[in-house]
Parts: sequence; structure tokens; C-alpha cells
Amino acid sequence: MAASPHPDHKPWWADSAFYQAYPRSFADSNGDGVGDLDGVTAHLDYLSDLGVDAIWLNPVMVSPMADHGYDVADPRDIDPLFGDLTALDRLVTAAHERSIKLTMDLVPNHTSSAHPWFVEALAAVPGSRARELYIFRDGRGPDGTRPPNNWVSVFGGPAWTRVTEPDGRPGQWYLHLFDASQPDLNWDNPEVFADFEKTLRFWLDRGVDGFRIDVSHGMAKPPGLPDMAVTDVKLLAHQDDDPRFNRPGVHPIHRAIRAVVDDYPGAVTVGEVWVHDNAQFAEYLRPDELHLAFNFRLLQADFDAADIRDAIDNSLAAVASVDGTPTWALENHDVQRAVTRYGDGAIGLARARAMALVLLALPGSVFVYNGQELGLPEVELPEEALQDPVWERSGHTERGRDGCRVPLPWSGAAPAFGFSARADTWLPMPSDWAPLTVERQLGDPDSTLSLYRRALEIRRERAGSGTGVEWLPISDGALAFRRGGLVCALNTGERPVALPDGELLLASGPLSGAQLPPNTAAWLV
Ligand code: GLC
Repeated sequence: MAASPHPDHKPWWADSAFYQAYPRSFADSNGDGVGDLDGVTAHLDYLSDLGVDAIWLNPVMVSPMADHGYDVADPRDIDPLFGDLTALDRLVTAAHERSIKLTMDLVPNHTSSAHPWFVEALAAVPGSRARELYIFRDGRGPDGTRPPNNWVSVFGGPAWTRVTEPDGRPGQWYLHLFDASQPDLNWDNPEVFADFEKTLRFWLDRGVDGFRIDVSHGMAKPPGLPDMAVTDVKLLAHQDDDPRFNRPGVHPIHRAIRAVVDDYPGAVTVGEVWVHDNAQFAEYLRPDELHLAFNFRLLQADFDAADIRDAIDNSLAAVASVDGTPTWALENHDVQRAVTRYGDGAIGLARARAMALVLLALPGSVFVYNGQELGLPEVELPEEALQDPVWERSGHTERGRDGCRVPLPWSGAAPAFGFSARADTWLPMPSDWAPLTVERQLGDPDSTLSLYRRALEIRRERAGSGTGVEWLPISDGALAFRRGGLVCALNTGERPVALPDGELLLASGPLSGAQLPPNTAAWLV
């Protein structure tokens, strides 16, 4: 596959399709039931044929896996579960041979509690240098029995855990915005950045093409750690004035990161930025900060033309002031699968397919989460299978994110569907997934996989054409826009609508003459 042509010398990522490989769930090469790096390498031809420009690999660094790799104990080595540094080198080389870029996932906001720094901090005394790498505070109340403030963890429960001091007495508390096994780092301490710089250079020197930066709007904590006004916050649904995130001090951190990354021409940074306000979102994309930031409006929109149009307009507006590149996603490893979100069953699938054509028609960088191209639904897992820390921390009220992380079905008629040599994979695979396997879908021109392949092919052929979206008139309940020469029409209403003028290139489902049926999208030129 040839890299996208960029006649106007835009960077490679400016109009590219990223494929998010959740390494545990993509492909298992060694039969332990968990996906790994060699599994990704073994399926690079699949990704090349799918037509993606780059891979975003979720964290593969050494980790106890309390949050499946977002709890990093050694940021500069590969966890044995996924392979080793030579396996990563093999993947980078083989991806580059296919003109596919490889980006990794870095977690600067926190470490694992098994990180040597935190182990040392626990063994040290209050006020020590080791404790200054994290956010330790005395508790409130006469005996310090109440947490230092009222912050809650994103995964549920308090954001503070009390430690036992080396002398055996109950002692200070440490902050963890996520699980208790993910202590937040103290980014006011220059040692934290110095070490992060080492990590950036370590992977860039090995040839990776950039990073997705976890919780990019975290890291900086407000002076004095004031209480939150509202503590009843759902997972990743916090508001912009939440003191735990999006503090002004985060921007100098991004500038420092960018200064390092700029030493590696072509390397990209993609920030996870859960910030709603467009002006504040744009600050992360100033020329000396992140290259890209995830905008989650499209995946938060209902299957409703007005809502979707609003999300698109907003995402474009969010980057306009800084001349930034818009980003688009319908799924990732933290949210419910689109098929299920849009209504599940045949309707959910039809809508997810229609939204795929909307996604892939948009200008900028698009992200496809593994399995999305197969139309996988969210899996209703039995309670005993749940692994996401959200399940425990929410007191079993939130099932968490495991349902979108079930391994991919590649081939065959029964679990593990070619994902692994063993049937009992790390999350169980539904026994009725045979029709969803890559093998079956490749043989069917109408499959969701065939739709993604064709759409990505057309997108690539047209790369660089049109950086804006022009809305076209269409009946109520539908939307139509032109980007470059391509027109995309989507019908979210209940009745068929007339297709815009043009030659039909691709449709997400059967059409009825010149009519676009409900839950269907089409591309025309
Ligand atoms: C991000 C990741 C999520 C992880 C959390 C803590 O939101 O996408 O999977 O649990 O950060 O690192």
C-alpha cells in the first residue's frame, strides 16, 4: 500500500486513517489467550489491505495490568505478556515495510503502584524526596482519617487511599484519579518530566512514529487541591471546570513534550483531551503543543441528523482557531461499541455502517477501533468474567468497559475464532460470532469489512482533497455534506429521502432507486 499522497506537503497524519489495535484483543501469537505484539505483526497484511495509514497501539509497557496496561511499572520496556523489545522492533520494521506508521500509547498522568518510584515512596517518610514524585497529603480531621479533599476517582469511589507508614501507623493519603493502583504523579516536580523525556526519546529512537498521550488534560493539579463542586460524575463525563482536569498548568507540560518530539521530524502526538469548550480544547493544539487531540463529540452524538451535524460543526470549529487538524472516532476501548450504542441488532449494525461512511468522508485524521470494521457489537459478559477496575470500584453498579474489548474473531466456527490457539481467551468470546469473522466477511462483498475496505480505499485515493465540509440541502431527518468532490448523505429519519445529485460510489446498505432508506448512508461524486 502506498502512503497517502500529500501534494501540498501536509504532514502524513493530516489526512490519515489510524487503526487502534488493543493489543490484548487483536491477535494472540503464543496461545496464552491474550493478544500480543507478534500477533499484530502477523496481521499487518490485513491492516495494509484494510487500507490504514497508521496503528495506534494501546500501552504495551511493563504493567501489573490492573487497568490493562494503563498502570505502567516500567515505561521503557515491554511487558512479557505482549513480548519484548525485539518483538516491538519486528513490528515497527514490518509495519514500515508496508508504509504503515506505528504509534504507541504513553501514560504520563500516573504510574502503576508497582513502579519502583512508588514502592520507594511507600517505604519512605512523609516529606521525603521519594514522596514528592507523587501527590501525598495528610488527611483531614484530628487523626487525619478523612481524605485531603473530596475528589472522586474516575472509576468510582474516593480518589485518595491512605497508606500505612513505615513505622506501622496509619499515615498520609495519596491521590489517584483512576484506580488505587494508579497513583498520580506530581508534575510540579522536574524529575517527573526528566524521566518522561527519557521515555519519549527511548521509543522515538527505536523508530516509532509518535504517541497517543493518555489523559492529556490531566497531569497538572490546581494549587491547594480545592474540593470538587460536584462529585457525582460518570466515567469520562466530567465538566471543563472539574478541578481534577484541564488546569492551565497542563500547557507548559505539552510545550515541553513538543520540544522533545520536534527533534524527530514526522513524529506525531495525539492527546486524549476530554474538554468540551472549543476555545479551551483548541489551546491543546497550539503550534507548540499537541499535533492532534481526540474530539469525542461524534461518538457522543445520538443517531440523529441534527445531533451529528452539530457534532461535526463543533469538531471543525474546535480546531479552526488554531488551524488544527480535526480528528474523528466512533469507537475506542473506553466506550460502548457503536452497533450497540445505535440500537443493537440489525438496526444498530445498519446505523453503525452508515456512520462509518460519515466518519470516513470527513477531513482530517480518523480513528478506527479494532473490531469496528467487523461491526462487532458490545458483548454482555457474565459478571465473573468482568475485569475492568470500574466494576469493583463502582461497587458493582457499572459493568465497565470489558464489553468492547472482547478479542477479535478471525476465522473458523467456534471460539477462539482464530484469535488464539486456546478457546478460553482472556475475555470469553460469544459462540455465535462465526458470521462476524474476518474470514467470512472477506468473502462477502456486502460485509461490514468489505464496506470499510472500499471506503478506506476511496478515502485514500481522494486524500488531501477538501479540508472543509459544505452542508447541502436535504430533507428533514437527513444530512448531506460535500468534502472535496465527494458527497456524503445520511438518513437518520424514518422515511426514505431523495439522494443528492451525483453518481453513486458506495452505500452502507441497499438503496431503493434514487431514494436513501432510513439508517443508510451513501457516497456520491
Ligand atoms: C484513559 C484510557 C483508559 C484508562 C485511563 C487511565 O482514559 O483511555 O483506558 O483507563 O486513561 O489511564
